[in-house]
Amino acid sequence: MSFQDSVPKNIQAIQPYKPGKPIEEVERELGIKAIKMASNENPIGPSPKAVEAVRHYLGHIELYPDDTGFHLRQKLAARLGVSMDEIILGSGSSDILAMAFHAMLTPDSEVLTSEGSFIVYYLLGQMKGCTMVRTPMRDFTFDLEAMAGRLNSRTRIVLIANPNNPTGTIVRRKELSEFLKKVPEHALIILDEAYFEFVGDPEYPDSFEYFREGKNILTIRTFSKAYGLAGLRIGYGIARTDIIDTLQKVRLAFNTGSLGQVAAMAALDDQEHVRRTVENNRRETEFLSKELADRGVRFAPTCSNFIFMDLGKPSKDVDAAMLRQGIIIRPMAGWGFPTMIRVSIGTHEQNEKFLKALDAVR
Ligand SMILES: Cc1ncc(COP(=O)(O)O)c(C=O)c1O
Repeated sequence: MSFQDSVPKNIQAIQPYKPGKPIEEVERELGIKAIKMASNENPIGPSPKAVEAVRHYLGHIELYPDDTGFHLRQKLAARLGVSMDEIILGSGSSDILAMAFHAMLTPDSEVLTSEGSFIVYYLLGQMKGCTMVRTPMRDFTFDLEAMAGRLNSRTRIVLIANPNNPTGTIVRRKELSEFLKKVPEHALIILDEAYFEFVGDPEYPDSFEYFREGKNILTIRTFSKAYGLAGLRIGYGIARTDIIDTLQKVRLAFNTGSLGQVAAMAALDDQEHVRRTVENNRRETEFLSKELADRGVRFAPTCSNFIFMDLGKPSKDVDAAMLRQGIIIRPMAGWGFPTMIRVSIGTHEQNEKFLKALDAVR
């Protein structure tokens, strides 16, 4: 048997995740200055306080980090009104997703989610060799009624991205509450709130409400988006202690770095920076939505820091043409949306440049 034949079939079939192109790569290849609007990062950068905290800590990086991130969990617990034992840290929230998949699934388990959601969910499902049940979207949103119809005795994880990536849409309190009533006790419900800081909708559900009711809910959040620390890879999960203890069994030792931990603590203390970030996003969402509507571009109304739009042309061609204009966006063909692109909302100047490039390629 060759080495390749010895790799399990489900692993052989995986197409590795392709992230948005790095700025340096585009600038090197095309010899132009580029703007990245492809990975929903913070366009105004990290909190200067987080940068300062990292600088201060640099002289100590010969030491392993605090394995469970005691001080960061303590700070998060105080801020969120939960106990430290109800929090787990991850190398980004993706790491916590992976822990849940490792802890909960065997090849005969099912994971229930939607089509058109975060690619990492599908990759993790393939990695575990389990069945991924994906219901079609309704109006670019998770269709919770359809999902409820697919719950069964093998369902072990139910995954809802709220807001969803790449569509930017949310599920609202009433429909989520109804859905949760139907989920059986043997399933873990993961509410992925990577973008929750950006949501202004009054009907956005408070996932802690369900957690306090004692439901099998794992909320995951991240410092990669509104907090501007994507490069440091730090995120967190909140759940009942028995759920957290289960995840701890499969967490790799020292999974979060000390620089990520200290930066996250300083970033939590700089809520002014988060407010500036959210305010820029609110204002620029309004601006871009109006400009797109004026141009007759169809897009999903967003609750997040990116906009999912249909240019009516193959998204790969749009991507290549935008790249030549120095704008890195995300073509959505790989998600099953051949003519759609996802664009992270930038600063006003970046958004103006995006629109100018869009007008040239449309
Ligand atoms: C819906 C969703 N969940 C989770 C993540 C993971 O982010 P991170 O691992 O950086 O915390 C992302 C990142 O793009 C996302 O879009």
